[in-house]
Amino acid sequence: MTTPEPGPRRAAHAAAAANAHPAPPRASRTGLVVAVVFLLVVLLVALPRILSGAASGPTGDDSAARPPLATSLPVPQFAVTEGVCGEDAVRAALAAGDDEAVIVAAGGGEAFRAAVVSGAAPCISLSDASRRWVVVDKLRPLDPVDAEPSSLVVPASVPSLNGGNLRQDAADALGALADGARAAGAGEVAMLSGYRSYTTQRSTYAQHVGADGQELADLESARPGYSEHQTGITVDLVACDDGCGDLDGFAASSQGAWVAEHAWEYGFVIRYEAGATDVTGYKAEPWHLRFLGPELARAYHDGSWHSLEEFFGLPAAPDYAD
Ligand code: DAL
Ligand code: ZN
Repeated sequence: MTTPEPGPRRAAHAAAAANAHPAPPRASRTGLVVAVVFLLVVLLVALPRILSGAASGPTGDDSAARPPLATSLPVPQFAVTEGVCGEDAVRAALAAGDDEAVIVAAGGGEAFRAAVVSGAAPCISLSDASRRWVVVDKLRPLDPVDAEPSSLVVPASVPSLNGGNLRQDAADALGALADGARAAGAGEVAMLSGYRSYTTQRSTYAQHVGADGQELADLESARPGYSEHQTGITVDLVACDDGCGDLDGFAASSQGAWVAEHAWEYGFVIRYEAGATDVTGYKAEPWHLRFLGPELARAYHDGSWHSLEEFFGLPAAPDYAD
């Protein structure tokens, strides 16, 4: 709002205008104020850029003149951790292919598991099909999909009904398990199925699809490239008394009951438990034993785990990705 000037000042202004001087004094003051304000504004806007430009040097790069964002600050190299993989004993055992020694050097089964889950074991790959900690499920095919174990043997002290074979470490552990069952009075067990190649699994899965349709087949049989049997450290057991039974009869046998309770003592776990289908993707298979080695099997048992997915903090795998 403009306040009217008093009469005498209005008269003085009229006289000044009539004099036709080049710049009246009030206009000069106003111009000066405007110029000073303008300069101050320019200075306030430009000062941070001038200062940061001076700090970053004359690069000519506009981004160099901007203050750094918090997210673009350099990551200190010393923050990278090797976790258990920094241990000489772990690295040496890994290089030697001695999986059990790796786990022991990492502090035992539970410490190994915890390190893997927390990301403190970057040298441990749960996708390495040659290792006893490999996890194969509907979201984790073997890598490569037709991977084969480096060597296989026919188990020496357990009947192999179809002439199947296993990796040496799993075969030795299975022999010890069979001896344990016999010594405990639970009876004899035999191997119905051990290692299955990609090609064999293709036939096995196709038979299930042909008999039951794909939806049910996918709850009972893995697609080729997705079966633990392809690792050579997985076995399907049957009970043998007067002759050998079938898979479906195993759980109700004395051998099946003993195996459910004691398999972990020999390094095995029952991979597909009742109640875990939403995680594993398969119906219960009390006959399907997966070798983990004594350290991991003990951690699995002691921790009351019901799937390898949960044990290693992996996503549930009820279905295939495609
Ligand atoms: N029966 C199990 C899921 C397999 O085929 O590997
Ligand atoms: Zn099986």
